[in-house]
Amino acid sequence: MKFDIIGAGSLGLLLAGMLAGTGAEVRVWCRSRQQCVELARSGITVSYEDGSAAVSVPGSSFKAETVEHYAQAQLADPGDWTLLTVKQKVVHGEFKALLSPLKHCRLNMVCFQNGWGHLDLLQELLPASAVWAAVTTEAAKRKTLTEVIHAGRGELCIGRSSQFTADGGLDGQNSFNENAFSFVQALAAAGFNASLSKEVDTIIYRKLLINAVINPLTAIWRVPNGELLASSERVQIMKALYTEAVQVYDASDISYDPHTWEAILEVCRATAGNISSMLADVLASRETEISWINGSIVNMGLRRGLEVPLHRWICGLVDGMTVRER
Ligand code: PAF
Repeated sequence: MKFDIIGAGSLGLLLAGMLAGTGAEVRVWCRSRQQCVELARSGITVSYEDGSAAVSVPGSSFKAETVEHYAQAQLADPGDWTLLTVKQKVVHGEFKALLSPLKHCRLNMVCFQNGWGHLDLLQELLPASAVWAAVTTEAAKRKTLTEVIHAGRGELCIGRSSQFTADGGLDGQNSFNENAFSFVQALAAAGFNASLSKEVDTIIYRKLLINAVINPLTAIWRVPNGELLASSERVQIMKALYTEAVQVYDASDISYDPHTWEAILEVCRATAGNISSMLADVLASRETEISWINGSIVNMGLRRGLEVPLHRWICGLVDGMTVRER
């Protein structure tokens, strides 16, 4: 099976390294030429903090190219699955031009972004393709351009949003199905705890709630996830964000597990030492995903005539931080 991985950040490198390690055909599409050169020279190393042996794949076992050649390569030599691991901002930015030559191609595109709003955009850009959503709790930190730390093993759940298919795309009628099962098997062979789900929307909305509470507050207070529970003032603010978000879900007929608040506290405990993806972006002076996380909750609320002041406020706070501090 041939995989194209667009984005060589932490998750992209983790997927590429683990898949290439099983002998799968992997093409990695990077933003910078420098990263392609380094990947070809040094390969990919996946290391662990718990003392497990690192996995290294040589640069000769996969290809690394700059992303502007992706469409051309798909037309000349199509892959089976494209794994899109870039941030939302990139999807909403340069992807329109990048994907336009592939408008009539039947790709399988799997989207790993946090938040909401990218799936419909990609389906619009690729109307003949199957756009899949992936939700993962795998934790990865990129150490160098070629090395990633697999900081926590999690789950990887893949499915089609009900926006595009009435049954989640698993009905046996869909020509992509058999392929999807083989894809999940390939991920499992690479060491991922992967599964297909008909409930991917519910999983995305659950993750959105978790991210909307944990990510901005860790970014503003510059603390690892577990520190959110260190004072009752912090927990109160988390709870206020949560309560406002579930009011939006209720008004939008989005169902969620009534124990999601407890699940959020549990994520903080289980990932206590982790730096959230939003804090990592802020520390690296990168633009964050706040517009697609808390911003999407604001937009959902507005569509239902709700004001959502806390999420709106927190978007402003985080957006105001993403300039290099002097
Ligand atoms: O975005 C993240 O960093 C993670 O999904 C989580 C677990 C919410 C915070 O580390």
